[in-house]
Parts: sequence; structure tokens; C-alpha cells
Amino acid sequence: MTRYAFPDNFLWGVATSAPQIEGGRHEGGRGVSIWDRYADTPGAIADGSHADVACDHFHRWREDIELMRWLGINAYRFSLAWPRILPNGTGAVNAAGLDFYDALVDGLLEAGIEPYPTLYHWDLPQALQDRGGWGERSVVDAFAEYADVVTRRLGDRVRNWTTINEPWCIAVLGHEEGHHAPGHKDPAEGLRVAHHLLLAHGRAVRAIRDAVPGAKIGIVHNHTPAHPATDSHGDTDAARWFDGFFNRWFLDPLFRGRYPADAVADRIASGHLEGPEMHFVQAGDLAAIATPIDFLGVNYYSRVIMSQNVDGRPEAVKAAPDHELTDMGWEVHPEGLHETLLHLHREYGPPEIFITENGAAYDDPPGPDGLIDDVRRIDYLRTHLSAASRAIADGVPLAGYFAWSLLDNFEWAHGYQKKFGLVAVDFDTCERTPKNSAHWYRDAVAANAVDAAATPSTRGDSRVFDSRN
Ligand code: FCB
Repeated sequence: MTRYAFPDNFLWGVATSAPQIEGGRHEGGRGVSIWDRYADTPGAIADGSHADVACDHFHRWREDIELMRWLGINAYRFSLAWPRILPNGTGAVNAAGLDFYDALVDGLLEAGIEPYPTLYHWDLPQALQDRGGWGERSVVDAFAEYADVVTRRLGDRVRNWTTINEPWCIAVLGHEEGHHAPGHKDPAEGLRVAHHLLLAHGRAVRAIRDAVPGAKIGIVHNHTPAHPATDSHGDTDAARWFDGFFNRWFLDPLFRGRYPADAVADRIASGHLEGPEMHFVQAGDLAAIATPIDFLGVNYYSRVIMSQNVDGRPEAVKAAPDHELTDMGWEVHPEGLHETLLHLHREYGPPEIFITENGAAYDDPPGPDGLIDDVRRIDYLRTHLSAASRAIADGVPLAGYFAWSLLDNFEWAHGYQKKFGLVAVDFDTCERTPKNSAHWYRDAVAANAVDAAATPSTRGDSRVFDSRN
């Protein structure tokens, strides 16, 4: 047995997001979000559910802080609901909304848990969507205003700020593929959205720095390494194609102040740009996007294996039957986390990196003793934490790890069917029950180390990537 230890000041956390756990849809003066509206659309959510109550964190947040205290963690990543704070997206501030997060922050600090709020985890105020949403450039000013309002209120106690969670998902799942709110299927809009998200991030970084002296600010990207199915030219180019739009489209502007030329050419070739130019990019935009940040948040779940199909187009390859998949259909591939961390460190060199999400969906029923023995989740966490520890040993400035997620929750278009929690939630009563993985994580946090097999399991050339739906 090898023991993987973490540095003394390593942050151990859990992550959640407001739209997935909070509920309280009609309470405390909250406005309507695009996810409320999307979930109201018949057929949009697989199990026909909505997040009006979700985990009822809006009323049970003290209990949730107690769970975190029991876990022994020293950091909590959560998101703020923009429509709870600015119900119309801009203008009038809802004092009760700010008070809610104010109390949450105080509760966390009293429990010795450092707050890591994210400003935007996908719940745009519907009022802004009605004005064009992320496809409309004016949303950038609205986001900077929101960032200013929030950080002026909480910035005396909250030092660590994340602007936006996973711009790729918002742009592509929400606007190109239509699987997420607002459910659009318009690739050209998706590209505009991606740009406005990056620009909004850059503008928010500046607003937060003005409001919070000494703030540490970052953005969260869902990095997915792409491996070619074979070393043929076609498969290698398919992997390049995927990496170009999934990863580099977002990271190159942030760290290099430019879009990747090969990926721009791919978009033009696919007809996804309305002309040869990136017409939505205005003078000064890229410099604003590249405003220096203090950390990069990395959400890592899996990798993708790419090949060129018979029509010559890039395509993700399906799983071989013996390869382990989570309930999301995502391959378990811890080596990809080690690879990702080293790659980001060497290519982009952010001052610090956090793993802002990592975890697995498995639905394990309680045993006769009532305990949920989620051994596959424990194995997932163990192997990924081992990979993270090895990345630190290899020189990556990895400063913390946030397990996704504290609670079973509303997993977007899947509703409540995909269970990522360390803690189970009974969605009739909202009762919380720690799974065995929560006990395991608690032990790891206390030891500041994980025990793992010397060679993390690599299951050959697994081949899967499913988009989320
Ligand atoms: C990420 C999201 C998070 C959760 C996990 C499973 O893409 O940021 O809200 O849905 O996936």
C-alpha cells in the first residue's frame, strides 16, 4: 500500500451549486432563473422534476454546515444565485438575497470553513434571458454590476472568488445542443455566448479587484483531455479538433489573449461562424479576458477518446464493454487527472490550481443496516486523489480539492436520477444520510493523505465519451 500525503496547507473541500441544492424558488424575493423556466418546459428534465425545493438548502443550510464540520473540511465551494440577489438581473438589489449569503458566509467562517463562492453556476436571471441572455453583449455589463454588488457586500469576509463555472457547458450544452437552459440549438449563438462569458469573466475580475483588496480570483474550466483512438493521422486530428474547442477555446484567451487559430479554422469550416471573422470580438476584448487571475479551477470527471469516422468527421468513440463507467456513462480514468494537471501547469502556468469538482454518479441503495456502501465512489475518490497527489509531487501548484458533491442533488437535465453526493438526500423528506464515502473522505481529510495501490488502475485503452444527455 502506498500512502499519498498532501501538503500541510492543502484545502479539503466539497462543492455544490445554488440551482442544484438551494430550492426556495419562491422565497426571499428571489427572481426567476433560466433553469426554473427550462425545468417548467415539458420533457426538458428526464424525470420530469424541477429544482423548486431541491435539497432545501435554503432552509437547511445550518445543517449542511454541520455536515461539513463533521467532515472536517476547511473549504466549501458553492455558488450564489444571481436571481436571488438581482431578481431582474440588473438594478434593484434584493436585500434578503444578500442577507441569505451573508449569514451562510458567517456560518462557514464560524465553523472554520473558508468560503469559495462562484458567482455564476448557470442560473441566469430569466429577465436577462428575455433581453437576449448570454448571446447579447449587454449581459457583460450586467455581470460586472452583479459582481460588484456581491463582492462589496461579502468582500470584507470572503477573499476567494470564482467568476464562472464551465463556460463550455453554458455555450455548448445551453446554446448549441439545447440540452441545458435556455435550450437553444444555434451553434453561431454558442460562439457568441462563449465570448461574452469570457469577457464577462474578465470584466468581473477587474470589478472584484476594485471591491476586494487582496482578493484571489479564478475561473472554473471543465478540462477533458482528448486521446486519439489510434495513432493514425485522422484520429490524431480528431483529438486535436476536440481539444481545440473544448479546452483551448477557453484557456488560450484567458492565458494567452487569443483564440486558437486551428480551432477558429475548424469553426469556419463547419459553418459555425457567420463569416470569416470573429465579428463579435471587439478591440480590447481579448486584453480584458486575459486580465491576470490568481488560480484556475479545474473540474475533472473523465477523458474522451476521439477518432475520425467514415465520413472523415471527428467522433467520440464508445466504451469497450469491460471499461468502468459511472452512471453518467463517463469512463473512470484517474490517470487523465494527473495528465490534465501537468498539462495545464506546463502549458498555461496559472499561479495556483484547485480541483474545483471531481466525483462520480453511482446509485447505491442502502443495505439492510441502512448504510449506503458506495465502494465505487470511494475507489473513484481514492484513485483521483492519488493522481492529484502525484501531480503535486511532479511540481503542480495544486492547492486544494473539492469533491463533487456534498449532497445528492438536482443534476440538471437528468433531474434527481444521477447521484453524486457523499451524503444521500431523501427527496421526500430532505433527510440527509452520510454514505460510506463521506466517512472515507472524513478519514482522508483527517489524515491529510489517502492510501492507494502503488499503480493506480489503468484499464487499457478505454473508449468512451458521452455528452451529458
Ligand atoms: C459539472 C457541473 C456540476 C455537476 C457536475 C456533475 O459539469 O459543474 O454542476 O453537474 O458536472
